Amino acid sequence: MANAPHGGVLKDLLARDAPRHDELLKEAETLVSISLTERQICDLELIMNGGFSPLEGFLNQADYISVLNNVRLADGTLWSIPINLDVSEADIQNYDIVPGKRITLRDPRDDAILAIITVEDIYQPNKVEEAIKVFGANDSAHPAVHYLHNTVKDYYLGGKIEAINSLNHYDYVGIRYTPAELRAYFKKLNWTRVVAFQTRNPMHRAHRELTVRAARSRHCNVLIHPVVGLTKPGDIDHYTRVRVYQALMPRYPNGMATLSLLPLAMRMGGPREAVWHAIIRKNHGCTHFIVGRDHAGPGKNSQGVDFYGPYDAQEMVERYKDELHIEVVPFQMVAYLPDTDEYVPADEVPEGVKPLNISGTELRRRLRTGASIPEWFSYPEVVKVLRESHPPRLQQGFTIFFTGLHNSGKDNIARALHVALNQQGGRSVSLLLGETIRSELSSELGFTKEDRDTNIARIAFVAGELTRAGAACIAAPTAPYELARQQARAAISKYGGFYLVHVNTPLEYCIATDRHGVYQKAKDGLIKGFTGVDDPYEVPANPDLRADVSKTSISQIVHEIILLLEKDGYYGSR
Ligand code: ADX
Repeated sequence: MANAPHGGVLKDLLARDAPRHDELLKEAETLVSISLTERQICDLELIMNGGFSPLEGFLNQADYISVLNNVRLADGTLWSIPINLDVSEADIQNYDIVPGKRITLRDPRDDAILAIITVEDIYQPNKVEEAIKVFGANDSAHPAVHYLHNTVKDYYLGGKIEAINSLNHYDYVGIRYTPAELRAYFKKLNWTRVVAFQTRNPMHRAHRELTVRAARSRHCNVLIHPVVGLTKPGDIDHYTRVRVYQALMPRYPNGMATLSLLPLAMRMGGPREAVWHAIIRKNHGCTHFIVGRDHAGPGKNSQGVDFYGPYDAQEMVERYKDELHIEVVPFQMVAYLPDTDEYVPADEVPEGVKPLNISGTELRRRLRTGASIPEWFSYPEVVKVLRESHPPRLQQGFTIFFTGLHNSGKDNIARALHVALNQQGGRSVSLLLGETIRSELSSELGFTKEDRDTNIARIAFVAGELTRAGAACIAAPTAPYELARQQARAAISKYGGFYLVHVNTPLEYCIATDRHGVYQKAKDGLIKGFTGVDDPYEVPANPDLRADVSKTSISQIVHEIILLLEKDGYYGSR
């Protein structure tokens, strides 16, 4: 049915009667189980709820080969992205997987039973060929090609699915509409013409204008249909994005637009992905679908050249328009005209007028530094949500990680810094002295290299969590090994600032000022494995600061640290 309102035939595999459901559940409990990967979970959810109609399972070899070569299933139906259940050779042996076998598919997060697959065939894909035919190049700079070679296992299982339970979601449950639910909702609202907008990014004024233009030109209502499954690595997390979409929705005229989340695992496949996206939106009851500039674009290849041209996706959907059963609404790049205070597509920009734009990279920079984001670009309520998730340095946490010999003065510097940071205010300050950690967290550990590394890993974990929560964390273990320190830096700097301070007071000074005679005990053999005596200390190669209490006062060292923090924006007045 071409352009039938609410999408034509839907393969809703979850729509079965209760007795059959119970029967399948009972059987599933007795079968061998496979725990799905994050991507397989997303794919299965859309197979089960009909988002991937006409698929009723994972592709068998004939369909797979046909999708690669002809952008069609073996029966000729248009389908552009291979949907596969990948397993390892060990899985095949361990679970004795043969054609005809029934296997339970489970959610790895809670072990919930989702479906049963009846294996039709088991085949080994040629991944290089898949990369070239589906994504255009066997280049690992493409996120899906990278995923194919690094995460996807070596064999694919084809076969139909019998759905048992839908996935358990705990976030934004109320706005995760299945295709059947969306169709029913549109019907209830008397929406017969609905244009869907795909996105994996925050929405700003440009996107609001683009969707309203699409609605106006095609006399449609609008479905904002963002992807909350897997998107491009490095994208803004979906929690933040959904809060952005929720903040934006009141900017549409009342009754014009609605929001629903799509649990899709994107492949960033540009043209082929656009075709796939259109089919998925048709299944969700939409009559129109927006494809703008660089739709589902993966960025640049390893030669620094864009994988796809900015309008390749539009060309591909145009080529298949008679088979899509959803009308594509193409858009050129929309940008802002300051003189008239409006957004227009590139082909409508008057000659000689230069449109304005703020790139994603520039936006992230402004969020990081706290620099202003103009109202022509976004709405204050949207910017507020983004700033809450991307606080400027002034509100981010950091860790000052001291390393040095026993009695090098690092504890005294750490205590003095603790006081100085409390005086500064603005953050809670945690002090993790070596001896505190040894008694509170690591009391069962000794001083072998392995135990010392474990101790540092624990400190890094705690400091990372504190840093993530916006605190100032001061850690002062001996930390004699370079690799453990580097691992601590990697773990903590994901969440905020990290500064390694090497307290390099000379060993002789540490010994000479050791009032408690600990070094003497080590020399006398009463303490074994003592750093600096009979255990190594690897001098840090790249500390952020070196400090020597035999030459510099504690106050001056603390001041040097505060200067470092100020320079990077952790203290100041913005
Ligand atoms: S995508 O990977 O989902 O395509 P994004 O969320 O940035 O990325 O884009 C969603 C849709 O909006 C795509 O169809 C894209 O082409 C379109 N789009 C985004 N920004 C613009 C713009 N400034 N002009 C035209 N189209 C745009």
